[in-house]
Amino acid sequence: MANSDITPNNPPYPAFRATNKESFAYDTTVRRWPIIIDSAIVDIQKTIDEVEKSDEKKAKEGTLIIQALEDLKKELAADAPLRPIKDNHSDTDKWNTHLQTWFSNCTWFNGTWLFNECYIYRRIYEIFNLSTHWQKYDCFERQKINTFRGSHAAVFDLATKMPGLIDPANASSLEKLELIYHELIQVCLWGNATDLSLLTNMSKEDIQRLQAVEKDRLAERRQYILADDTQKVWEALKRKPSGVNRVDFVLDNAGFEVFVDMIFADWLLQVGLADKIVFHCKEMPWFVSDVMPKDMPLMFQCCLDEDFFAEENKTEADRRALMIMVKRWQQYVQDGVLECRSHDFWTYGLSYWYMKSEAPDLFEDMKKAKLVLYKGDLNYRKLVFDCDFPVTTPFKEAIGPAMANDFTHIVTLRTNKADPVVGLTDETKRDIESRATRQEWRFSGKYAVVEFN
Ligand code: F6P
Ligand code: MG
Repeated sequence: MANSDITPNNPPYPAFRATNKESFAYDTTVRRWPIIIDSAIVDIQKTIDEVEKSDEKKAKEGTLIIQALEDLKKELAADAPLRPIKDNHSDTDKWNTHLQTWFSNCTWFNGTWLFNECYIYRRIYEIFNLSTHWQKYDCFERQKINTFRGSHAAVFDLATKMPGLIDPANASSLEKLELIYHELIQVCLWGNATDLSLLTNMSKEDIQRLQAVEKDRLAERRQYILADDTQKVWEALKRKPSGVNRVDFVLDNAGFEVFVDMIFADWLLQVGLADKIVFHCKEMPWFVSDVMPKDMPLMFQCCLDEDFFAEENKTEADRRALMIMVKRWQQYVQDGVLECRSHDFWTYGLSYWYMKSEAPDLFEDMKKAKLVLYKGDLNYRKLVFDCDFPVTTPFKEAIGPAMANDFTHIVTLRTNKADPVVGLTDETKRDIESRATRQEWRFSGKYAVVEFN
């Protein structure tokens, strides 16, 4: 297809759409989204019950918000057309331009799955935005916090290992650093396996298994990485740039995932592989569990609260290790060594093929980093246009000309939770297709890719 024919509603290969009843897009539209909206309703009702006596106005408005969410579910079920966004936020005009230019005749089923799925979170945000008493309310915050509480085993495990990982005796040897790097990058990768929007399918045991960070477990799970550019990433990481030595993370989920991202970032700073870290967060509640700027201090606070992790077996030394580490993290933020930023672009419904044209400021700024890590499934879908590329398409081709040529040194750390996959060799393709079902290797979160441009 000629580049000029490509639009957000007409990707280089067919887009995934809920009109295909066999697709994950269809399952998401008819089953997963209503469950996610219901979980938001349960949360709001809890808050209404809490404030009923102290803040009558807020409680009253809360019932209207629940009604609006019920109406949104009806709109989905009726396959209604996508309507313009009605609030007055910094991104409203952009959203409406995108709707009008590319998706004017689309409905909840026949629009692209990528655009529609972003649009539903934008519509949820609109409901709160138009309210008086709930404007900054995150209806997924309770879920984020509760799941993080359940991650205590891996949290303490990593906190107690950290002093050894940043020991100056290791930092002085590039070989030792490389060994530690290979472990940490995997911890960072598999931290993505447990996002809340998928929990509709996962048991508690599944989650704990995925969060295990022991060496043997990691080695065993290496076989599930279908494309593995970790060595190339190491080559990029050990470079000392002439300008600022900056590493960016385009974050995905709050709780355990961002905790391990922090572990990796902390390690990079401590051993001198980076002097500055930028975390890119979402401006609004997004795909249930994504990190918003306020979730970072909240995560620090949870770790420092002695009663947060109800873990009886932990010793005083374990708790101390966690406290020392998290205080160091708070210091990074205070000193500006770690910056948590957000930008409207991250919550548009567009592929990152459009980053250069739709968010030139962001694009130019991120080019200053020596490495940009894109975490998670949604970032991957956006990088590769969420379309049905042949799986052997090179990653460089699938991320589009602007990203490929003007913005190198990017890596995606992604566990496979949706259709698109690129960058496989012919051999891997044959092998995986012969031994696993499509459902298993593309959607289950058991397999992963680490791809570098
Ligand atoms: O709803 C589908 C989806 O976009 C999947 O891609 C994935 O299950 C989830 O939402 C988001 O995953 P992640 O948090 O890794 O981006
Ligand atoms: Mg997410």
